[in-house]
Order: sequence, then C-alpha cells, then structure tokens
Amino acid sequence: MYKQIGLITGGGDAPGLNAVIRAAVRTAIREFGMKCVGIEDSFEGLIGDLKIVKLTTKSVGGLLPRGGTILGTRNRGSFCSFVDGKTVFPEGIINTAIENLRKLEIEALVVIGGDGTLAIAQEFHRRGIPVIGVPKTIDNDLAATELTFGFMTAIDIATEALDRLHTTAASHDRVMILEVMGRNTGWIALHAGLAGSADVILIPEIPFSYESMVQKIFSREKSGSRFTNIVVAEGALEVGKSEIYQDHGDGSAAPRLGGVGDSVRQKVEELTGKEARCVVLGHLQRGGSPNAFDRMLGTNFGACAVRALANGQTGKMVALQAGTVVNVPLSEAIANIKTVPVDGQLVRTARDIGISFAAPKEGKL
Ligand code: F6P
Repeated sequence: MYKQIGLITGGGDAPGLNAVIRAAVRTAIREFGMKCVGIEDSFEGLIGDLKIVKLTTKSVGGLLPRGGTILGTRNRGSFCSFVDGKTVFPEGIINTAIENLRKLEIEALVVIGGDGTLAIAQEFHRRGIPVIGVPKTIDNDLAATELTFGFMTAIDIATEALDRLHTTAASHDRVMILEVMGRNTGWIALHAGLAGSADVILIPEIPFSYESMVQKIFSREKSGSRFTNIVVAEGALEVGKSEIYQDHGDGSAAPRLGGVGDSVRQKVEELTGKEARCVVLGHLQRGGSPNAFDRMLGTNFGACAVRALANGQTGKMVALQAGTVVNVPLSEAIANIKTVPVDGQLVRTARDIGISFAAPKEGKL
C-alpha cells in the first residue's frame, strides 16, 4: 500500500473538482491509511518553488458545495507545448517533476483533468509513476466515459440562461443568440437547447447554413412566433468556413474559440431585418457551486480512483459506463474526443420536436 499519494487538478476548472478531492482524501485516509498531499496549480506545483499542501479529512470538510478547486489549476504551463498543431511534452521538465515526487515521498498520483491534463498524466505513468485519472470537463467530450462531472451543472446554467432569454426575446420580437462553451463538441448546446427550448441549435458536428437558419426564423414568424432563440456552441461553423477564434494561441496555450455568436447576430440582422442580440455565457458555465449530480459523480469518481490505486491499478482513468464506475486505460481515454453523433437519438428528438440545426438540407421546419 502506498504511504502517501498526491492529488492534482489541471485544465479549466469545473464544478465538482472539490467533491472529487474530498472523496479521494477521505477514502485514502479512512479506508487505506494513506497520507494525502495536494499539488497546487496543476503539475506546475512540482517544479521550481514546490507547492505542496497537506490534505486531511478535516481540511477537506465543507468542500462539497464549493466551486473551483482548492488546489488551483492551470490550462497552460510548462508540461506541454503546442508545435504545428501537435502537443509536445518536454522530457526535462517531466523528469524534474518525477525527481521531486521522489524527494517528497509521493508514491502515486490521482490526476483530475480533461484530455490535456490526462495526456500529461499518461507521460508520468509511462515513466513509472502510478497514476489514476479522473475525467473532468464541462464539455463532456472525453471518450470512454458517458459523463464527466461539471457538465450537468454547465447545462443547468445554460438552460437557465435560455429560459431568461426566452421572455425577453418574446417581449421584443427579437432573435436572441446564446453562445455556450464546448470547444469542438456541441454537448452543452444540444442538451441546454433541448432543456431550454431553443428554436435553433448550432453545433460543430453539424455545419450550418444561413439560408436554412433564416428559413426557420421566417417559418416561425409565419406561424405567429415572432421571436427565435438560438443556442450556438463556440466551435460551431458555417458550411465551408472555419471556426471563429478569439485568440489563435501560442506555443504554451491552445487556441481559444469565441465570437461565433456575435457573427451569427450580425448576419441574422442583415438577412432578416430583425433585431438580434447575442449573449456569451462564457465562464459563468464553469464557476460556482456544482449541482447535486456533479457532487455525487465527483464523490464516486474520487473514491473509486483511490480504490483503483490501492488495488494496484495504474495508467487508468475512472469512467462512467452504463451507470457504473469502471477503469479504462488512460491511452484509450485520451485517444479521441467524444463528439455528438449527428444521427443520434438526441439530434433526432430535437428535429422531431421542431428544433432546427440549420443544416443546409434541414427538411421540415
Ligand atoms: O474545456 C473547457 C473550456 O471551458 C472550453 O469549453 C473552453 O473553450 C475553454 O475551456 C476556455 O478556456 P479558458 O479558461 O482558457 O478561457
């Protein structure tokens, strides 16, 4: 049994990170008699001025409703860089971090993060450090797990925003556009669009045409609904065009999407003559308290991750499959992102109830 394990949170924060930390620490101490430390500011805490904090059952008390992560996080840093669209892991930095782990007597790691963080975790595993990953991201785009914690809270927030936009859209006969996160996948837009009664959902997996979008807006007008609510994922793109970026990134940071909502607003005004407004929900989707589901999922993931380590597993990620937490190889989890199946049940349901994806040949409006 390991005497001491380390916990790391990496990537963008997500509601439920603290629930994972709390459950992992309690399980490690109560069930397995291990000591726990937190490594602060993602893997960065393992180099330079080391940032290590002792975690006890007491110090993780009261964490369930707390947003963010008590350990701090980074979604850029020294452990990976982006060269010609490829991720590179600097050998020297990882070796220094491993030497420091040995000096600190941290024998194994629980790494909580999305695809980027788990790819770094995999590099530690490849060099002999026992590692278990915990899938985190509001985007829900990690392969091998049906759900990541943070996603359900993000949907709640986006749904509430759509509900609120609905009443103002209807009062002013406007087109309201809500831009949500989700990077290269449309999970948040699709789920919130269904739950918040959007009329049009734009997702990266289904490139849109303005002709089709305008047809939908006019067909609503004809049937007496003079307003339209559109939810657009930040990575959605027009047929034949590319995504819209706020910042193309540099060697240390991935490109940042953003701006598609406003570009849809301008074009819709131009093509329909209707007033349109755009709201970018941004980091409100990540901040604040996790909902009940994410607290529960985070807790189960945290406890299962420590049990996996204690059972000698390494190079694995805990994952939800058919309602149960299982362990899958990290390599499998980071190999591909999980995109919305364009012919899947939810897309079909959305179309059946009259939601448009503004695809070029959308069919019945
Ligand atoms: O991956 C999570 C996420 O919130 C994406 O949906 C979004 O594109 C990105 O992170 C934003 O990152 P940042 O915090 O750097 O703005």
